[in-house]
Amino acid sequence: KRLILVGPPGSGKGTQSPAIKKDHCLCHLATGDMLRAAVAAKTPLGMKAKAAMESGALVSDELVVGIIGDAIKKPECRTGFVLDGFPRTVAQAQKLDEMLKSRGVDVDKVLSFEVPDQLLVERVTGRWIHPGSGRSYHEKFAPPKTPGLDDFTGEPLIKRKDDNAETIKTRLAAFHAQTAPVLSYYKNKVTHIKADRPADNVASQIKATLK
Ligand code: AP5
Ligand code: ZN
Repeated sequence: KRLILVGPPGSGKGTQSPAIKKDHCLCHLATGDMLRAAVAAKTPLGMKAKAAMESGALVSDELVVGIIGDAIKKPECRTGFVLDGFPRTVAQAQKLDEMLKSRGVDVDKVLSFEVPDQLLVERVTGRWIHPGSGRSYHEKFAPPKTPGLDDFTGEPLIKRKDDNAETIKTRLAAFHAQTAPVLSYYKNKVTHIKADRPADNVASQIKATLK
């Protein structure tokens, strides 16, 4: 299967991805995680992406299409993938179509994670992440077993630089203006997921639609 997860910041894309990946043996490509790794490693790509990311704006189409284009060629992504946070503009969706068409394949399904804006501020400001794996926790909704530490590695959790009440406004505005049109672009491939419910309920909705 070739799947795309579309949803505003904090809607649960990263939280649901590991189970989707596991259940369907897919490779999980999250442009936000890849960009954060590039920023942390201070690569040329990271240096170019840093300012936009910290302000809550989108990084240029050219940069993200470049990283996805490389990642999607990996052997483990040949039979299927789940894209988390890409495409985020209609131009990115068109580029993806070109890449897939040249290989004779197509996107199967687009899951649209739907959560009202007012719930997303609390989700995002309460988040803690494990930078090595991209795993996320929430101080109220999904606390780690030991406060401040990753359940699997015991390594420290950190806050994302863009997870503050100010930047979330810019990210939500970018979602509505630039990313929502991606859903119209994919029209009949879109399945709506009620992602304002508890995480296990969201997981069941996804399981049912991917059966
Ligand atoms: P990215 O990392 O993709 O951030 P985002 O889209 O803003 O999404 P988030 O990671 O904030 O949300 P999520 O849906 O993964 O939520 P999560 O599961 O963690 O992008 C970051 C930046 O990189 C962008 O702003 C941009 O600058 C750049 N970028 C990335 N891709 C790009 C692209 N294609 N083009 C251009 N620029 C790009 O959950 C959030 C919190 O809620 C967690 O604490 C979690 O524990 C909790 N939670 C999850 N589900 C539930 C639930 N059901 N109930 C209660 N709490 C829940
Ligand atoms: Zn995420």
